[in-house]
Amino acid sequence: MSANLLKIGVLRETMKGERRVALTPADVKRLSSRAIIFVEKSAGVNAAFSDDAYVEAGAEISSLEDMIGKANILVKIRQPEFPENFSVGSIVISLGGRDPNLAEAMKKKGVIYLGLERLPRITRAQSMDVLSSQAAIAGYEAVLEGARTLDILLPMLTTAAGTIRPAKMIALGAGVAGLQAIATARRLGAITHGFDVREAAREQVESLGAKFVFPDVELPSAEGAGGYAASQSADQQSRLRRALAEYLIPMQLIITSAQIPGQKAPLLIDTEAVALMQYGTVIVDLAAETGGNCELTRPDEIVVTENGVRVLGPTNISSDAATDASRFFSVNVRSLLEHLISNEGLLQLDSEDPITSALLAGQTLPVQKVV
Ligand code: NAI
Repeated sequence: MSANLLKIGVLRETMKGERRVALTPADVKRLSSRAIIFVEKSAGVNAAFSDDAYVEAGAEISSLEDMIGKANILVKIRQPEFPENFSVGSIVISLGGRDPNLAEAMKKKGVIYLGLERLPRITRAQSMDVLSSQAAIAGYEAVLEGARTLDILLPMLTTAAGTIRPAKMIALGAGVAGLQAIATARRLGAITHGFDVREAAREQVESLGAKFVFPDVELPSAEGAGGYAASQSADQQSRLRRALAEYLIPMQLIITSAQIPGQKAPLLIDTEAVALMQYGTVIVDLAAETGGNCELTRPDEIVVTENGVRVLGPTNISSDAATDASRFFSVNVRSLLEHLISNEGLLQLDSEDPITSALLAGQTLPVQKVV
């Protein structure tokens, strides 16, 4: 192995409850011809990837201090808590790309920060899209979490004691997470529905065998750039909430995942709408981290209302499937690293390239020192 190869460090996650790891042994192995890889001790343990597995894949286990001192590129999942600890000129890849304070702190320290949320939604970048891979897992996990919380079953079930009717489920926001939630709830036997402000979502919802709900309220085309939704005025949002409320009354499981990139999540369910719901209804709000789609959502809490509605606001639900979530995340990160590092192991931060320039977001390139 050439001592001149770039050095990549895989950081252990420090946020409470975060069990994922940014690179798995399988991807360490794939990258080992392009770079020397250091893995912080126990970085993968909570996702079922042991230090031994990393060593077998060709990585070296390292302490945090050692790694920060020698790695040219550091990768992790969650946004770094202590940007000031990184070395000047190093490159850090992680989530956190929508936090202007983090970008500022990195700039101050002289670190090049590549926030994964900034990846453009173009075909070439699809294999690097951590938002999509993790949202798919979140949609699946949200239904399991909701099903476990409900006091009723999702499928129709007939026994000698009679027949139970299938539960009704709706996904508000039918993007990656919402569509996966519909597919999962349907596999579990629920009667599924979906709603989204993007008209393009109708066909996707219907192709899963779910009913597309479109409330009787005039909405302008909400298709934004890159497949994302455009935001709506306060008045449109309020009319939409009123119109949606009646569709939610018969539902027993409501999964919300509506997001507008870089903004507070749109409010789709207010307290009055919850008050109209049936006793026992469960809402799983996947937008809890950005303020919630339901007015009653509290991050990582279960709120129980007077009329027996339970509102769950998980903020780290992909971590519940830490092994597979890490596998997806890792393939995304490897794909990005293969884009940034040539077969010969040279760093190619080409600011003319649409993927690299979106990630750099105006940051100037360092003269890369390979030590
Ligand atoms: P997201 O996480 O930003 O938002 C989730 C969903 O919330 C979206 O479908 C959005 O339309 C919806 N939404 C926003 N405001 C809403 C409101 N007031 N009421 C109801 N729904 C609302 O988006 P996500 O899931 O990451 O992607 C959305 C779409 O983008 C995907 O379904 C796909 O079609 C497209 N996409 C394109 C990619 C590409 O590479 N071209 C990659 C990934 C997704």
